[in-house]
Amino acid sequence: MRSEAGLSRRALLSQAADVLKAAGIGAPRREARRLWTDLMGDPPDHLVLHPEEPVSAERGWAYGTAVEHRAAGEPLAYVTGWTGFRHLILRCDPRALIPRPETEGLVDLVLARVPIGRIADVGTGTGCLALSLAAEGSYAQVLAVDLSASALELAGENARGVGARVSLVRGDCCAPLRQASFDALVSNPPYLSAGEYASLDPSVRNWEPALALVGGAVGLELTARLLDEGRAVLRRGGWLALEIDCTRAAECAARAGALGWSEVALHADLFGRERYLLARRSDAP
Ligand SMILES: C[S@@+](CC[C@H](N)C(=O)[O-])C[C@H]1O[C@@H](n2cnc3c(N)ncnc32)[C@H](O)[C@@H]1O
Repeated sequence: MRSEAGLSRRALLSQAADVLKAAGIGAPRREARRLWTDLMGDPPDHLVLHPEEPVSAERGWAYGTAVEHRAAGEPLAYVTGWTGFRHLILRCDPRALIPRPETEGLVDLVLARVPIGRIADVGTGTGCLALSLAAEGSYAQVLAVDLSASALELAGENARGVGARVSLVRGDCCAPLRQASFDALVSNPPYLSAGEYASLDPSVRNWEPALALVGGAVGLELTARLLDEGRAVLRRGGWLALEIDCTRAAECAARAGALGWSEVALHADLFGRERYLLARRSDAP
C-alpha cells in the first residue's frame, strides 16, 4: 500500500481498511486501527481525537508495509511484533507460536494449586506460561524448556522485557529436568496430528512453526511423553498441568490413569471445551 505524503490519519486508515477488506481480512477497520496503535505506539484515543493530523512520509511507509504484510495473510501479532497474554505484553514473531487466549486458563489452574515452590514449563515458546507464572506466583524457581533454539531466544527477550526471573534451557521434553523435585510441571505441547496439520487453515500453517503444532502422526507424541516422563520430574504430590486437544481429552485422561497419576481431572477452557488435564504424582516415580 503506497500512501501519499501528508495524508491524514483518517484517510490513511480508511485506505488500509479497504486493502484489508479486499484481501478478505475480517473486521478490516478494527485491524487497521490495531495495526496503527500497535506499530506507532500512539495512545488508542489519539486516533479518535486527532483524525485529521497529517502522517509523516516515514510513518506512512512503515504503516503501508505492515498493511501489505497483513493483507498477504501474515498473522497480526507477527506483523506488529507484539501480543498480549494475561497481564503481559510479549514480543511475538515466527520464532514461536502466537500464544492463544485459551492457554491463559492453565495459569489459573496452576496458581490455585501450586502458589509457591519450583515450576517447570516444557515447550515454552514465547515464554507466555513460564513468564506469567513467574510474574503472578511467588516461586523460588521457574525453569522453561524448549527444543527450539529460536523460540528460547525469543523467550529470553521476553523475560528481559517483562523483568521476570526465568531460567531457559534447551532440551527435549523432560530431559533437562530429571531431578524429581519440581512442585508443578506445566506444558502446552504441540497436539495436532499430521493429518490435522495438513488441513489446517493456511493463516496458521503457512506462518507458525510446525514444531509448535504437530504432535506426531496422531497428535499425542509429546503429551504421551509428558505423562510418561513427568512423574520422574515431580516431587511426590506435585502437579502436572497440561493443555490438551479437546477432541482427545478422554483418551489423555485414560492414559494418565493407566500410568498411575492420581486426581486426574479435565477442565474446560473459556470456550467450554475440555482443554486442560490436571493430575498429581502420589506414587513412587
Ligand atoms: C504449542 S507450542 C506452546 C508454546 C507456548 N507454551 C504457548 O503456550 O504458547 C509448543 C512448544 O513446544 C516446543 N516443542 C516441541 N517439541 C518439543 C520437545 N520435544 N521438547 C521440548 N519442546 C518442544 C515447540 O518448539 C513449541 O515452542
